[in-house]
Amino acid sequence: MTRLLSNLYPVTKTIKSDFSGTLEITWYNGKKHLNTKNANYSFGSLQRILKFGLNNIDLNSINSILLLGLGGGSVIETLRSDFNYKKSITAVDIDPVIIEIAKIEFDLIENDQLKIVCEDALQFMKINKDQYDLIIIDLFIDIVMPKPFLELSFWQNVIKASSTNGSILFNASLEKTKSNSLNDVISFLKTRMYQTVVFEKFNDTNTIIIAKGL
Ligand SMILES: C[S@@+](CC[C@H](N)C(=O)[O-])C[C@H]1O[C@@H](n2cnc3c(N)ncnc32)[C@H](O)[C@@H]1O
Repeated sequence: MTRLLSNLYPVTKTIKSDFSGTLEITWYNGKKHLNTKNANYSFGSLQRILKFGLNNIDLNSINSILLLGLGGGSVIETLRSDFNYKKSITAVDIDPVIIEIAKIEFDLIENDQLKIVCEDALQFMKINKDQYDLIIIDLFIDIVMPKPFLELSFWQNVIKASSTNGSILFNASLEKTKSNSLNDVISFLKTRMYQTVVFEKFNDTNTIIIAKGL
């Protein structure tokens, strides 16, 4: 019934999170979305933006993915359903409430191909010893990307975790212009031999960066 009614108008349920404030689960056009006060976290425009990024990456050569910022898991749905990617994904999120929402509201199931880690991505990357063919970085608290994720110490750990010829998809900013720190990250990737393409204001909102190790 909820799904039918949602074709006429959105139905919203709210859940409190210590990290992201009030989270809204909203039925819209027959599909559930996860939103914060000011942003779409999952299954709306965010899902389309990451799908655009994935369209620019050759997924045939990817055997392992690290996702920093699980949210409701919409990019996992895109990978599995639209790109038929069935191999390994490790997803990290700091927020246990979000992880529970991903499982209960968006039917995400942990199995041999999907490992979910509840941890601060900064800490996870400091101690991580594994390498991944694709690293997706989508770390926001509402509309803000926490500052440490634009520091080069974090990006050094990202490069360490990236396989030879690995790719990085970075949902980098919702700001109107690129900050100095984001420009520093782009320069850093280029000096570390990553072919780096920047899509500014994709969808009029997000700056997306795609980097491929040469
Ligand atoms: C836009 S949502 C991710 C959406 C998700 N990629 C998808 O496809 O549906 C941003 C996520 O980043 C997470 N996040 C923010 N800061 C974090 C941190 N320090 N460590 C890990 N996750 C963090 C938030 O809890 C939130 O779930």
